[in-house]
Amino acid sequence: MKGLILSGGAGTRLRPITHTSAKQLVPIANKPILFYGIEAMAAAGISEIGIVIGETGEEIMNAVGDGWQFGVNVTYIQQDAPLGLAHCVLIAQDFLGNQDFVMYLGDNMLQQGLTDFVERFEGSHQAHPQLGEPAPAGPAAQVLLTHVENPSSFGVAVLDEYGEIVQLVEKPKDPPSDLALVGVYLFTPHIHTAVESIQPSPRGELEITDAIQWLVDNGHRVTHDILTGWWIDTGKKDPLLDCNRLVLETIEPRNDGTVDDLSQVIGRVVIGDGARLVNSTVRGPVIIGAGTVLENSYVGPFTSIAADCVILDAEIEHSVVLERCQISGVPRLQDSLLGRDTIVTRSTGIPSATRLLLGDHSHVEIQ
Ligand code: TTP
Repeated sequence: MKGLILSGGAGTRLRPITHTSAKQLVPIANKPILFYGIEAMAAAGISEIGIVIGETGEEIMNAVGDGWQFGVNVTYIQQDAPLGLAHCVLIAQDFLGNQDFVMYLGDNMLQQGLTDFVERFEGSHQAHPQLGEPAPAGPAAQVLLTHVENPSSFGVAVLDEYGEIVQLVEKPKDPPSDLALVGVYLFTPHIHTAVESIQPSPRGELEITDAIQWLVDNGHRVTHDILTGWWIDTGKKDPLLDCNRLVLETIEPRNDGTVDDLSQVIGRVVIGDGARLVNSTVRGPVIIGAGTVLENSYVGPFTSIAADCVILDAEIEHSVVLERCQISGVPRLQDSLLGRDTIVTRSTGIPSATRLLLGDHSHVEIQ
């Protein structure tokens, strides 16, 4: 079985971060989101992974390389425009050949690994009949579903009495069930005929839900598995912060930096190589990246600060801060996502005023 990870896309919901970089490389607990997906595939025994890349492809290739660091082989597949999830399958046909594959959205995070899901699919459609009996047709695809409170925001599945998919409805006004599609799919090569047969949707994309519906309408079986544990589509700020919180709750405390006598480290905290705490308090779960300096500051629960940041006379909690940010003289930052090399300081000029230099689509809340 091969793996296909989708890491192109426009990332409009995470602007301005995505004006300059790939949303799949935003770190959760200081590790790029995409790496969790690659690791989950490697753990499920998948060693040939294709990664679909778009405009931010170069950055993704620099971060992932040939996959050696994960123990897998990575092949990159360039998508010229984000024409939809099924379009990704279409352009990956040469890579996928006639093998089954698991498709994974590169900005999704799952608590549960992929191993059970993959094993159940392989078992189900490789089941051989007793001698003399007709071969049962195995499923052409298997989707992962989860119960959600707001099905109208998702692709929703309708099941028959045997638990097989009858219909998939995208963002239904009147949801037929509370079972939403999670961003992980298992396919046999039948999906190639489906993606070649469908037409772009009104939003101009080749939709994977249409391709799966095509399978159902053409007599193929599509089975499902129900997700246990959490699943987060990190494509927006608040879910991303939630995901960071959930992952930080599982980190193992460790200190590879220096903490002076005036500083206090409480709870689950990881301090990276060469990081320095000077007269500061860190209340976990928190991760502080290598080379980051905290001085006269407070870092509160559920915060990830990447490498080489400077936090001076500041307070921050429930936030994700990317590499090389400088935060100084700021009384309390929370629920925030700061892109690389961002500077947040207290106004000292006269007249005292709020002075901003923000990229397009930035979002600022002022007290
Ligand atoms: P989405 O988050 O659905 O789409 P998007 O990345 O365009 O984001 P937004 O809605 O904020 O504009 O995509 C899910 C994943 O699939 C994500 O990792 C990007 C990837 N993707 C592709 O690789 N190619 C595509 O054509 C599309 C639509 C998405």
